[in-house]
Amino acid sequence: MKRTSVFDCTLITLDKHHHDNGNLSVVEGDATLPFPIRRVYYLYDVPGGESRGGHAHKELYQLIVAVSGSFDVTLDDGFVKRTFSLNRSYQGLLVVPGIWRELNNFSSGSVCLVLASLIYDESDYIRNYNDFLVYKNV
Ligand code: TYD
Repeated sequence: MKRTSVFDCTLITLDKHHHDNGNLSVVEGDATLPFPIRRVYYLYDVPGGESRGGHAHKELYQLIVAVSGSFDVTLDDGFVKRTFSLNRSYQGLLVVPGIWRELNNFSSGSVCLVLASLIYDESDYIRNYNDFLVYKNV
């Protein structure tokens, strides 16, 4: 997954069921996503001004959803950076492997839900930016 670009990453609009008593959005496995969901985790109570991420993955696909509040996700393929402001509970950002990501500008009380294609594996991470550039042949 060395050759992926930020343009392989895209916003996906999820099914939204709007009712007077509230909204409901659905992610229905392969029908919604181009990967099987093997893991779900979420970030919350992120202190103001803090950032998360700061790494890339070699094989992992993710869908990142601001289920509550808002935050920014900056993607970087070694050549191009794209920043997405996530603030809709019915939108997810598909992040393909081989992309450096930084998450910041978390609003108070925001929750970042991540659907992931693989179980947690530290060896799938690239945590050093120079190592990432070498990996991408930049
Ligand atoms: P990390 O992925 O670096 O967090 P972020 O990208 O949000 O900044 O993970 C932070 C810590 O949590 C790290 O020590 C590993 C641990 N962790 C797990 O044990 N399992 C998981 O599924 C994830 C995502 C992280």
